[in-house]
Amino acid sequence: MNVLTTESGDSQAITILGSTGSIGQSTLEVLAKHPKRFSIFALTANTRADLLLEQCEKWQPKYAVINDSEQAASLASAFKQKALPTQLLVGAEGLDAVASESEVDVVMAAIVGAAGLQSTLSAVNAGKKVLLANKEALVMAGALFMQAVARSGAVLLPIDSEHNAIFQCMPASASGLGSESNSGNGLEQGIRKILLTGSGGPFRRLALEAFADVTPDQACAHPNWSMGRKISVDSATMMNKGLELIEACWLFDCKPDAIEIVVHPQSVIHSMVEYVDGSVLAQLGHPDMRTPIAHALAWPERIASGVESLNWSQMNGLTFEEPDFQRFPALIMARQAAELGGSAPIVLNAANEIAVAAFLQERIPFTAITAIVADCIEKIPFEEPMSLEAIQAIDSQARDIAETACQAFDDLVNNASAPQ
Ligand SMILES: NC(=O)c1ccc[n+]([C@@H]2O[C@H](COP(=O)([O-])OP(=O)(O)OC[C@H]3O[C@@H](n4cnc5c(N)ncnc54)[C@H](OP(=O)(O)O)[C@@H]3O)[C@@H](O)[C@H]2O)c1
Repeated sequence: MNVLTTESGDSQAITILGSTGSIGQSTLEVLAKHPKRFSIFALTANTRADLLLEQCEKWQPKYAVINDSEQAASLASAFKQKALPTQLLVGAEGLDAVASESEVDVVMAAIVGAAGLQSTLSAVNAGKKVLLANKEALVMAGALFMQAVARSGAVLLPIDSEHNAIFQCMPASASGLGSESNSGNGLEQGIRKILLTGSGGPFRRLALEAFADVTPDQACAHPNWSMGRKISVDSATMMNKGLELIEACWLFDCKPDAIEIVVHPQSVIHSMVEYVDGSVLAQLGHPDMRTPIAHALAWPERIASGVESLNWSQMNGLTFEEPDFQRFPALIMARQAAELGGSAPIVLNAANEIAVAAFLQERIPFTAITAIVADCIEKIPFEEPMSLEAIQAIDSQARDIAETACQAFDDLVNNASAPQ
């Protein structure tokens, strides 16, 4: 295993997969506060070459990776022109290399969606300290992923604010996450249940009849969190909470019925753990991803994140509600997928990614997202994938079916606008 030192003063080399995204940029903000403690080994982007270039000018990493090969030549020449010490790599191979390179201590896995699975797994297989934001990787390949963690001795720490909160509220021996053994004691150690909180998203109070007309910008206007567009839409459908439920089952080695989803619109409590004696431990803070990022970066120590103290005198009451399953059927689908396991979460995740992308491109209405996911789950027979290749085959089958469903909407629009 790659030896990690957590003593203050020892510099750790970090790769940020998805440095140009919302989590990637928040990570750089935290790192800027601790220049002696961390050095940037690699930064990566998909298509946003301009921002990657800007980041490389500022941080001077050893490597940068651009996934989109079409932008590689112009980016490489910009590096040369600016005399940057950074070597440019391209595509999936480049991502794998900077995730697993022996010099790297810590990998922030912050690529969005299934696209992040392979490089995150490379970091896990290489025994890195992996800070996991990319929940889709666990949703798709939970069993394989956790086996790889146990085999390699990787240290896995959750970045999702809810899972990070749960991790903080659990006795270290129960979570099994931060340890090298990852023995997965489940929820045995006096824990009664996990309370996974969610704000309810921007449409918590919207009339059901109005759902069909919401726009991508409305869906992305989250009341509390500033995030990338995919996760913002997932929050609006509450599929995000469903994906988090599946993620929590893997991270904390528990069954879905040990997790209760609680709607907490203020997003001050980031999740809770209830013990058999009736105690409930909660982690609170501003809805700002720099807190879980700093927690995981420094774990088991603590470092400053730049997030201010909560102002208790201005806190206007914390409220809690049950989720509305009629408005947010994604919650039911995700819970069923978590209970079924096997191919079900893979199909759920893949169909959702395609449908969300189509909604963001204004090809399908908001309400079609969960309808398309439900349709894919119904059409694809259940199976137990035993390898990464089998997982990828199911993922791609679900994407094809979801894409066909999106094209049916394109056809409707085209036929309606065609001259009669
Ligand atoms: N944002 C949050 O507050 C938050 C909170 C909890 C969990 N998460 C999770 O963290 C992950 C990242 O979310 P985000 O909001 O930061 O997303 P985001 O803002 O959309 O950023 C995604 C990052 O991934 C890169 N990327 C996208 N597709 C890629 C591909 N095919 N190959 C390589 N790189 C690719 C993007 O590059 P370009 O910039 O070039 O497109 C960008 O750097 C997601 O899994 C999300 O669920 C996010």
